[in-house]
Amino acid sequence: MASILHKLFHPLFSGPPEPPRNKVTVVGVGQVGMACAVTILLRDLADELALVDVMEDKLKGEMMDLQHGSLFLKTPTIVADKDYSVTANSRIVVVTAGVRQQDGESRLNLVQRNVNIFKHIVPQIVRYSPDCIIVVVSNPVDVLTYVTWKLSGLPKHRVIGSGTNLDSARFRFLIAEKLGIHASSFNGWILGEHGDTSVPVWSGTNVAGVNLQTLNPNIGTDCDDENWKETHKMVVDSAYEVIRLKGYTNWAIGLSVGDLVESLMKNMNRIHPVSTMVQGMYGINEEVYLSLPCVLYGGGVASVINMTLTDDEVTQLQDSARTLWDIQKDLRDI
Ligand SMILES: NC(=O)c1ccc[n+]([C@@H]2O[C@H](COP(=O)([O-])OP(=O)(O)OC[C@H]3O[C@@H](n4cnc5c(N)ncnc54)[C@H](O)[C@@H]3O)[C@@H](O)[C@H]2O)c1
Repeated sequence: MASILHKLFHPLFSGPPEPPRNKVTVVGVGQVGMACAVTILLRDLADELALVDVMEDKLKGEMMDLQHGSLFLKTPTIVADKDYSVTANSRIVVVTAGVRQQDGESRLNLVQRNVNIFKHIVPQIVRYSPDCIIVVVSNPVDVLTYVTWKLSGLPKHRVIGSGTNLDSARFRFLIAEKLGIHASSFNGWILGEHGDTSVPVWSGTNVAGVNLQTLNPNIGTDCDDENWKETHKMVVDSAYEVIRLKGYTNWAIGLSVGDLVESLMKNMNRIHPVSTMVQGMYGINEEVYLSLPCVLYGGGVASVINMTLTDDEVTQLQDSARTLWDIQKDLRDI
């Protein structure tokens, strides 16, 4: 007797199934990976989402939990496996896998441990999706983006670090809150390293085109009576503060990565502060990745904006580059 399938459908076409056109993979289904995955799903950015991790039960559990929400989503295929064949034909791969710093562990040691993990992950990504764009989120993000670029053999415009996209979002939120306006209406950029040596571009801060430095020439300096500099310190400290309070950060980074994926997926030519290879810019001679305003299009980074920075801001950017190079130059096997 004919099956329900047979009785229900009158096929007009019997070829192979359509391949995904807008597939996104998230590697690492920890706190950050899942926040990225949920943002990508809720913003309808992918027609297929693939998840990869080494913890098989956790991976399967996360996949099933998301699949059970399919009725409320518009991403028809959600798959997961520890084997990278599941990631085949991804347009974008977001890497959030990694180990966290252990008590007393040096930063360099942590980097080297994550490099060893990336040596396993990156070749597998490229093997199955040779045309993809890789967005690195794992920390230290600038160094690991450089490592990913080296290990992948991809052109530099297709290897991007989430960089100071989150730092800039925190900066915009904190200052906008002080001014009583929405974060999107305060324009300000944090560049350089995602972390302690990040560079706030006070010379470019503005609201509706009104430059804040023209209103307060001392903004961001130690001579400023209003102490706006404190806001940048709060940005740098905020990750530590959230980690102290809840153990990790995930929502803001997930939302900010979703925004990057949207610009890439929809070929928007929107500008974001993300980590890119900056050798030859602002007098930086080393091969380092750090954040500058980048135009993101469907193929990755189309171009970098030449910001008109003050001499002091350029010096800070160069210091940021030096800090990163000091770590990178001692890395082994990349
Ligand atoms: N760039 C940013 O702004 C930013 C913000 C927050 C967190 N982070 C970083 O994101 C990373 C992840 O943070 P988290 O809180 O999700 O950590 P987590 O410990 O919750 O998750 C990490 C996941 O990576 C997986 N993993 C480890 N080795 C792997 C491998 N070889 N292949 C695949 N998966 C592997 C683990 O099993 C785990 O599920 C950390 O490096 C963290 O510092 C970056």
